[in-house]
Amino acid sequence: MSVHTAKRRLAPSDIKALKGERPIVSLTAYTTPVAKLMDPHVDFMLVGDSLGMVLYGLDSTVGVTIEMMIAHGQAVMRGSSNACVVVDLPFGSYQTSKEQAFTTAARVLKETGCSAIKLEGGAEMAETVDFLTQRGIPVLGHVGLMPQLINTTGGYRSLGRNDKEVEKIRRDAAAIDDAGAFAIVIEGTVEPLAREITGKVKAPTIGIGASPACDGQVLVVDDVLGIFTDFKPRFVKHFANLAPVMSEAFATYAEEVKARSFPGPEHTFQLKKG
Ligand code: KIV
Repeated sequence: MSVHTAKRRLAPSDIKALKGERPIVSLTAYTTPVAKLMDPHVDFMLVGDSLGMVLYGLDSTVGVTIEMMIAHGQAVMRGSSNACVVVDLPFGSYQTSKEQAFTTAARVLKETGCSAIKLEGGAEMAETVDFLTQRGIPVLGHVGLMPQLINTTGGYRSLGRNDKEVEKIRRDAAAIDDAGAFAIVIEGTVEPLAREITGKVKAPTIGIGASPACDGQVLVVDDVLGIFTDFKPRFVKHFANLAPVMSEAFATYAEEVKARSFPGPEHTFQLKKG
């Protein structure tokens, strides 16, 4: 009889169980080599639709397609064996109906092998979150600042600064929690509200620009590495500064190619003698 001792990947239920135990660590990931480096250090990797801006140079996440998310979800799965992997559903792929959301989410799970999806939305998406979770699809919610709504909300600014915003985010978080999300991203929200929601909901809250009061934190990996330097919101910290390192490497490569000092003899194939 064989005994299976292989370590299994963290599951969405493991992430949920961390609430109240210790802070949950998450980053976005989009590619295999970065996922490999990140895998031992995070509880879950989010294949975020931020890849539209970070990797593809789009102005917003609105233009991201399901095919992009699946290709990068597969790449991140190939580079990881420890962390739970969650893939974002892109704009337009789930809002029409709960049935559309199920079809898209099932395709993402089948074609990438990831174990959960994320979707943006509050009270208006609660029925969909319930429909998916009842049918075997773990959902990471996303409330507060919702980048897919940029065309109706008009900007990326922190929320919860007036009674109307506070009431909406409070209601959104409660609705997604009651609908069964295993965790809830709170983006761009003032600390007192993030703290209040974290204390009230059953699911762990994962903050991005939502203060240390959340149960865990997520950041965009290119921000953490100091690669994406177009703009730096207040909540971002560069844990490394790779942009100048990369620039210098490209400049040195160009110089050496022009000077014919690269490739050198050690990089060159020769015919074997004799
Ligand atoms: O797309 C993304 O990267 C996200 C995170 C910023 C939470 O949704």
